[in-house]
Amino acid sequence: MPATPADDPTTAPAEAVGPLMRGITVLREINDAGGRMSLSDVVRTTGLARSTVDRVAATLARMGYLRLDGHEARLAPQLMELGNAYLAALGLPQRLGPLAERLAGELDESVSLAVPDGDCIRFVHQSTRRRAMSLTFRIGDLLPAERTAPGPLFAVACWTEEDWAAWRGRRAMAPEGRRFPAVPPRAEGTAAKDFEDFQERAAQATLDGYALDDQRIEPGLIALAVPVRDPQGELACAVSVVSHTSRHSARSLPQAVLPRVRETVAAMEHQLLRPEPPAAKPAKGLAHWTTASKQELGAEFVESLARGLTVITAFGEGRTDLSLSTIAEATGLAKATARRALITLEHLGYVTSRDRRFRLTPRVLDLGHPPLSRTTLPEIAVPHMAQLVGRVHDSASLAVLDGDDIRYTARVATERIMSVNITVGTRFPAYAASMGRVLLAGLPADERTAHLARADLRLLTPRTVTDPARISSLLDRVHHDGYALVDEELEEGLRSIAVPVRDRSGRTIAALNVAVHSSRRTTAACVTDILPELRAAAAHIEADLHVAARFTRIPEA
Ligand code: PHB
Repeated sequence: MPATPADDPTTAPAEAVGPLMRGITVLREINDAGGRMSLSDVVRTTGLARSTVDRVAATLARMGYLRLDGHEARLAPQLMELGNAYLAALGLPQRLGPLAERLAGELDESVSLAVPDGDCIRFVHQSTRRRAMSLTFRIGDLLPAERTAPGPLFAVACWTEEDWAAWRGRRAMAPEGRRFPAVPPRAEGTAAKDFEDFQERAAQATLDGYALDDQRIEPGLIALAVPVRDPQGELACAVSVVSHTSRHSARSLPQAVLPRVRETVAAMEHQLLRPEPPAAKPAKGLAHWTTASKQELGAEFVESLARGLTVITAFGEGRTDLSLSTIAEATGLAKATARRALITLEHLGYVTSRDRRFRLTPRVLDLGHPPLSRTTLPEIAVPHMAQLVGRVHDSASLAVLDGDDIRYTARVATERIMSVNITVGTRFPAYAASMGRVLLAGLPADERTAHLARADLRLLTPRTVTDPARISSLLDRVHHDGYALVDEELEEGLRSIAVPVRDRSGRTIAALNVAVHSSRRTTAACVTDILPELRAAAAHIEADLHVAARFTRIPEA
């Protein structure tokens, strides 16, 4: 059954692009299933033909949006570029996120930013603290307005007659679950009460200037929300402070936090008065690549799906509200093609138009953002490490610096038996390991010096370098060369080569290595044969990380 009337192909306008609609249906289905699904389940739940699902999946895989592992499909980090286009165009996470983060630090409670989405609320930022006792929402999660703190504020500030009608219509529609995968279902009988109370809560919110959620999501979870207005006085978003009944009651929460929240909102409104950052260099030819993929893959590649999704990426920071010509130019598509994609996206609710200008809607975040925003760096890295291992036939590992040690956070082993038995969580002294050298070489000078002064530099094999001055000059070399090669300093018979993995700001956050038995490859062969493959794998990991981490904190371990 279609999730909303807009998903019903029988109501689509004549110009709508069928393959784009079917591709989006597949993405939505996998999103709602938590980010992974077998292709036969996709066939079953969407009612699409197997051959259609295969072609859609192959196209999404070519775009880097889906990873196919046998018959299972998994959403892949590059897909986040769609949600990122919406968030960048919205501009609120970049401009208000740091203030939300500061408030979360001061209150030691979680703080979120949410925007209205029809009769629902949608999270666009999360600064999470102390969430052990309750569930955490993700960027892109959709919640029914009547069960949240921002909901009553949005109803007062911006609901249209249509939004109210949709909200009333929802009362009649039994289980919430299908549309709100992120929210625990309501206990028997309490759903009706949420609906009854809502108008009253909206009226109260008008008087108070804030609204409360007293355990409407789940027992123990309480929240207070305050609206943030743009320079025109229109609602931009709501800031929520989320707490737990073990720390506050719904009565004590406003007393405890409201003054600080109001100060933050004033600072946020001030921030929104500042001129928007200049538009990033306009994109050009975003969809040009699809022609070559079509030639290469033939019928397996659904070009109109790839082009239609690429239209979403024409939007971004300073590119909020675009004309058809600008979109055609940014994508490199013919105007007629871009127009049909926009008609389709508008029909499905991902785009709105006014006076012949187009904007993305928060619904774009349904295209994979919630499950993917929980991705960790090791999860991002493992598929690329598996490819690397497939090419070099030696084991690959990922590690982070943890105190004076490196700690393994991911590993893909070859069949070959190695003398070292390393698993995730294994620790080694940083100074004698290739990944440790890469991580130490990436530290600011004072931290490196402090590390070498503090670390217990011992001989682990006859070849271990233990003189701090010598290690320091080796680290300079690693910094300059962009890799570290360690030859039997950690363990006899073990040679390894490592490169850095850097975040968007260029900081080294992890190291990737390949370890070989010394009888298998000379040090020269490590550099000529392994290093280029290692660098290519690190570049792929970084490309995924930089998309995934644009608006979400991606844990490094
Ligand atoms: C949240 O950010 O997790 C949140 C916000 C408002 C609510 C409930 C949860 O009403």
